Amino acid sequence: MTGRAYAIGVIPGDGTGPEVVREGLKVLDAVRDGFSTETVAFDLGADRYLRTGDVLPDEELERLATMDAIFLGAVGDPRVKPGILERDLLLKARFGLDQWVNLRPVVRYPGVETLVPSHAEEDVNLVVVRENSEGLYSGGGGFHRKGTAHEVAVQESINTRHGVERIVRYGFALAMQPHRRRKLTLVHKTNVLTFAGDLYQRVVDEVAEEFPDVETDYVHVDAACIYFLDWPARFDVIVTDNMFGDIITDLGAMIQGGMGIAAGGNINPDGVSMFEPIGGTAPDHTGKGTINPLAAIGAMEMLLRQLGEQEAADRVDRGIRAATQQMKSMRAGEMGLSTSEVGDLVVAGAMA
Ligand code: IPM
Ligand code: MN
Repeated sequence: MTGRAYAIGVIPGDGTGPEVVREGLKVLDAVRDGFSTETVAFDLGADRYLRTGDVLPDEELERLATMDAIFLGAVGDPRVKPGILERDLLLKARFGLDQWVNLRPVVRYPGVETLVPSHAEEDVNLVVVRENSEGLYSGGGGFHRKGTAHEVAVQESINTRHGVERIVRYGFALAMQPHRRRKLTLVHKTNVLTFAGDLYQRVVDEVAEEFPDVETDYVHVDAACIYFLDWPARFDVIVTDNMFGDIITDLGAMIQGGMGIAAGGNINPDGVSMFEPIGGTAPDHTGKGTINPLAAIGAMEMLLRQLGEQEAADRVDRGIRAATQQMKSMRAGEMGLSTSEVGDLVVAGAMA
């Protein structure tokens, strides 16, 4: 066969991960046109760890690095001490594959109710460009006199010129894309974090000169939380560091309608990117068919866009929009439909 062919690594992971991944792959199958995909399953997550002690062995990371893209369900399990799967699987993959952009669109789809009744659909359409390779996540730091009354715990925020510049440039380039509104907001805490914040602000000011058509501004992270509720339309592209990006994108998910609808991509523009629903494993819903698969389906849409398959991605987008209009809620167990029924609605809407 000639034509475009992609190897997609699939990590169903833990909890409700496998259930939402199934729906994402169902949608992929339906919208695929003009290209072929081979899915390569990766057995990673709590079960493997409890069985063998392996989290993400180096050979598996090397195998992931040979994929064209990775589709991840969720990792985390109440049987495993917090931090093990998060650091040694999720963060090891992000860092090991140098997925330095964490791209998190915050979009309000038609018919979705949120906790903020004053928002209209057109008010919520922004994208958070979260730095994904350094900051407080770099693992720098340590204990001193651990377990004593004089214990010291240091957790360092590492910010490199290279790391800051590449994420800021990514944000500017994104702001210039036809579907965006040419505005870039730096979100940080420059009034207190006077070293890291200063580096970010200087880089934004410098790079801004190369993008005269992009309006730039700055908002402190605490004020950004207020604006997410009070005036989200003031944001188009937000660039922020790893920790702040983690926090504000949970709030972002809530103004979309809930964690069930929020998708994200861990992107290495020159390498292998990994797409995931940002909501986690939802242990209470595991195995019940009550979890919302739209976040995973949205992650599949982003995966297709990253591969350059815009038509297929547009079809997924239409499918999601058709589905949200027929669902009672984005929250697990309150959708009025089962997980697979939501997937079927997306397929029907995508192909209409
Ligand atoms: C996320 C998650 C992860 C993060 C955790 C699970 C390590 O909260 O993807 O937002 O902090 O990045
Ligand atoms: Mn998070």
